[in-house]
Amino acid sequence: MPEGFRHAPFDDMAALENLITDRTCAILCEPLQGESGVRPLGREYLKAIRDLCDSRKLLLIFDEVQVGMGRTGTLFAYEQFGVTPDIMTSAKALANGLPIGAMLAREEVAVAFDPGSHASTFGGNPIVCAAAVVCVKTMLAEGFLAAVREKGAYLAGCLAEIARRYPTIAQGVRGVGLIQALTLQPAAQVHGPAIINRLFEKGVLLNFAGNSVLRCIPPLVVSKAEIDEFIAVLDKVLGEFVGA
Ligand SMILES: Cc1ncc(COP(=O)(O)O)c(C=O)c1O
Repeated sequence: MPEGFRHAPFDDMAALENLITDRTCAILCEPLQGESGVRPLGREYLKAIRDLCDSRKLLLIFDEVQVGMGRTGTLFAYEQFGVTPDIMTSAKALANGLPIGAMLAREEVAVAFDPGSHASTFGGNPIVCAAAVVCVKTMLAEGFLAAVREKGAYLAGCLAEIARRYPTIAQGVRGVGLIQALTLQPAAQVHGPAIINRLFEKGVLLNFAGNSVLRCIPPLVVSKAEIDEFIAVLDKVLGEFVGA
């Protein structure tokens, strides 16, 4: 892990403020945490962080590697929360699986970089950049992001129904757009890895994120019929774990 970071507990503004010193230059966070369990930071908290950055003259950096590029139903997740960062990272879906990473910044910040000051051997290679251009154009085409929002709402509704059917296993649903999670009851979390393995055997690839949720991040082109197929498999598999 890069050095120089201090970590603040989730959703604790006082703890975050306490970590700031004269040497603090920026606050970095995901607007919606992916790996640690699909946890949105929330509008109020993000707004408070933005205000803190403004009043203490700090830069706000959003890591949009997982939740950017259409995942939440807008091109960038921060658009859902009404808070704009000074710097933002992007990768993963940016070239739909081909290796690329990017850092975007407001002009006043971006001028700190000259051509070559952030170079890498394969950085900016033409094939991957061509793929990224196609991905961005596809995501910005008429109706694409609206369809992501619609399918995200549909998936969330299906997962909520599953949560109602299996109250001893599932607690509820949380997420934005096509990053949705079925949160597991504390007593059922021990079965998380086994549930994931069982789903995998049946051809469904999910992740047990943050040791507490079943994370669903289907391809943005997923169809409603495929979501139904997934829900039917999930229904069967959770049935196997009732009373386990
Ligand atoms: C939010 C977030 N940031 C950064 C990374 C790491 O990205 P990369 O492998 O492109 O360095 C990941 C990988 O899962 C991620 O989820």
